[in-house]
Amino acid sequence: MMKRFLTIACLFLVPMAIWGQEISTPTVKETPVQPSTVKLVCGPYLQNVTSDGFTVMWISDIDALGWVELAPDDGTHFYYVDRPKYYDMTGAGINPLSKIHTVRITGLQPGTRYRYRIMMKGLRAFNGERDITFTKPFGANVYTAKPPVVTTLKESYDKLHVAVVNDVHANAEGFRDLFKDSRGKFDFVVFDGDMTSVINEDTHMAVYVQPASELFADETPLYVVRGNHEFRGLFSRDWLKWFQTPTGMPYYTFQWGKYFFISLDSGEDKPDNDIEYQGMLSMDQYLYEESVWLKKVTESEAFKNASVRIVFSHIPPRLNDWHGNKNVCELFVPILNEAGIDLMISGHEHNYSISPVGTSNAKFPVLINDNLELMVLDIDGKTIDFKTSDTSGAQTHKGSFPIVKK
Ligand SMILES: [Fe+2]
Repeated sequence: MMKRFLTIACLFLVPMAIWGQEISTPTVKETPVQPSTVKLVCGPYLQNVTSDGFTVMWISDIDALGWVELAPDDGTHFYYVDRPKYYDMTGAGINPLSKIHTVRITGLQPGTRYRYRIMMKGLRAFNGERDITFTKPFGANVYTAKPPVVTTLKESYDKLHVAVVNDVHANAEGFRDLFKDSRGKFDFVVFDGDMTSVINEDTHMAVYVQPASELFADETPLYVVRGNHEFRGLFSRDWLKWFQTPTGMPYYTFQWGKYFFISLDSGEDKPDNDIEYQGMLSMDQYLYEESVWLKKVTESEAFKNASVRIVFSHIPPRLNDWHGNKNVCELFVPILNEAGIDLMISGHEHNYSISPVGTSNAKFPVLINDNLELMVLDIDGKTIDFKTSDTSGAQTHKGSFPIVKK
């Protein structure tokens, strides 16, 4: 009898107790803390500037929808009219929600100045296309600060004033010293490899691209050459996401009027099977494919018609040296010898030197810039003049190379 009573009591009382508990202390469903703002982490910086367009890149702290507003440099206030908006086409028609923003602006006039500003809305919640919640919008301030100005490439140039730096190895302070007075000074800037040492996280851009953006790269075209250290670290696999090249590969060409430039990817410096790489490199196959591309470049009308031809290669050609030097000697130099090159500019050795014609298998001179030194080139139809300086601004070397008659 007692047992039956207890069973009935349990059947009624336990649910009532639970029900009562639910009434008296309702459970609060915990929602994750969502960001209310989106912040600019790096940028903007210019990539792939051509005569009819340019690419603006920047990085946000959280995934975001980004776009660029464009205005002519015609004296009107940026807020005068609604400015055309350009979105990130790397999503092929669906606007990306990402931290890396790559917005290309096209259909522009050559040799013309344009103002731009970057805009974005951070993603708070995505519950389907009809239910997306964004943070407060971020807009570059064009009320108290002047918007950056970019000039599209002209059809021709008499001379070029160019800066090259390499082997910075994540020294942000030294980088800032080298470029402290560089706003508006150069036609373009080249990072000739090993700007960082290991890419272990997606924040490495803060070390050299963010200073570059603050000092010049939001207005001055920037070209990036991959060095052997940019193959190292887990996030080195994403290297191409942070830059936009004309080919979509780390090797590419660019042209300023009669001046033709080739940016080579010279790869890693040791053999693929070296224990340091743990079987994660396929450099021999990759560099061979690049050499097939290079051959086609040198057969192009644009290359043949150019009066000045300069090659950037982080690793220089050296006979009987490391495997990286051997690759350059065997895969790229024979093609460049046949094609006719005025100068190769390299880094990698952390030592300034000039390798005159005949000191490797190259039939062109190779100029090697020291680490953490600014090399300034003045190029016209007759000579390539250069000066290098250290982080104190003191001049370290200078010289000149003749342009070879084509
Ligand atoms: Fe290097």
